[in-house]
Amino acid sequence: MHLSEQIRQLLSSNRRIKNDFQYTIPSPDIYPFQWLWDSCFHAHIYLALGEPEHAKKEILSVISKPLPGGLLPHIIYWEEAANWGRERRGDILNQAWGTDSTSSLTQPPLIAFTVETIFNETSNTSFLEQIYPILRNYYNHLLQERDPRNHHLLGIINPDESGEDNSPRFDSLLDLPPQHDASTHLDTRIKLIEQNKICNFDAPTCMKNHFWVKDVSFNSVLIRSLQSLSRIADVLGNNSESSTWREASEKVAEAMRLRMLEDDLFWSIQGNDHEKIRMKTWNIFMPLFAGILTDEEAGRLVETELNNPETFATPFPIPSTAKNEESYDPQTGFWRGPTWMAPNWFIYQGLKRYGFEKEAADLKEKSIALIKQSGFREQFNPETGEGLGAENFTWGGLVLDMK
Ligand code: GLC
Repeated sequence: MHLSEQIRQLLSSNRRIKNDFQYTIPSPDIYPFQWLWDSCFHAHIYLALGEPEHAKKEILSVISKPLPGGLLPHIIYWEEAANWGRERRGDILNQAWGTDSTSSLTQPPLIAFTVETIFNETSNTSFLEQIYPILRNYYNHLLQERDPRNHHLLGIINPDESGEDNSPRFDSLLDLPPQHDASTHLDTRIKLIEQNKICNFDAPTCMKNHFWVKDVSFNSVLIRSLQSLSRIADVLGNNSESSTWREASEKVAEAMRLRMLEDDLFWSIQGNDHEKIRMKTWNIFMPLFAGILTDEEAGRLVETELNNPETFATPFPIPSTAKNEESYDPQTGFWRGPTWMAPNWFIYQGLKRYGFEKEAADLKEKSIALIKQSGFREQFNPETGEGLGAENFTWGGLVLDMK
């Protein structure tokens, strides 16, 4: 069967309808709810499949339960959380995140970028009108609550907000050694959630007291989304908000260069004093997506990292953590080595943006090869291509949107 047909079937079988809403679950066995950035990925896949109505419904559903302050939650539990694999210890974590029917955390704020992409393909202004007030509240909330000292860099209060729960970028802040087992990691995250609860998920307090990372990926995604919001506000005739969003995006870009850039690489930073977290993960390529590198810097990044067999040029790229990091674990590492399709999709777009046609084509070809070899798995061993984690996982569909 043709790849796009397989992807159409996968999304169709993972699609759910609840009350007035339609959403897509990432994988039936392990991820039976709706996740924020996953839904954005799903919308891009639906657009690539020529199914914009599904893309719109996915987004209307994921914005349907903002928290009182405007934050869009990273999970909506359309089904009872208690039904989620009781025997799995992850269930404890899931319930701890929950308020009523949502989590209290968020995920990388890709949604405005996704909404603009849907609009560009459908020219449906009423869709924008419907969604813009929710987006406005969400991004305003982020810009205020996640940047209490006005540094123009947004903080996350928990690793899960980066989308990469166990990335080694967060080891030092969590006091974890480079190699540790999954259950130690889970204990640490449960402890952090307990702390998040004590500070009531109030970001300035949680960041000050417990966990405060200004992540490269989160802020790179933010830059693109603020640019999208600015154009969306223009379409809706709101010129003054359009300028405000554009200026906000420029400030984040400047702040990233000022605080994160060192020796040609952007590092996530922690705490109020902007301490750099010098841990090489796929995030070093996100500034390509954000468009904040000069052409020379981008060239050096591709040369010294993307094409470097010691770090990221594995047979089945891009490993989530560089091969020469002590924390690298290509088989059981989750975000500590295995290749994931969403990072490949972000990096592909970044490469295209800077004109690296050959590298982009190569990444697309290798991503498709992974799916042909191992199916729609959650992650892949970057050296052998073996499929890992959840099955019937949707992110592989993103290869259709590598155009
Ligand atoms: C895992 C991933 C996260 C994703 C979720 C649902 O927790 O780390 O990025 O959103 O699964 O697919």
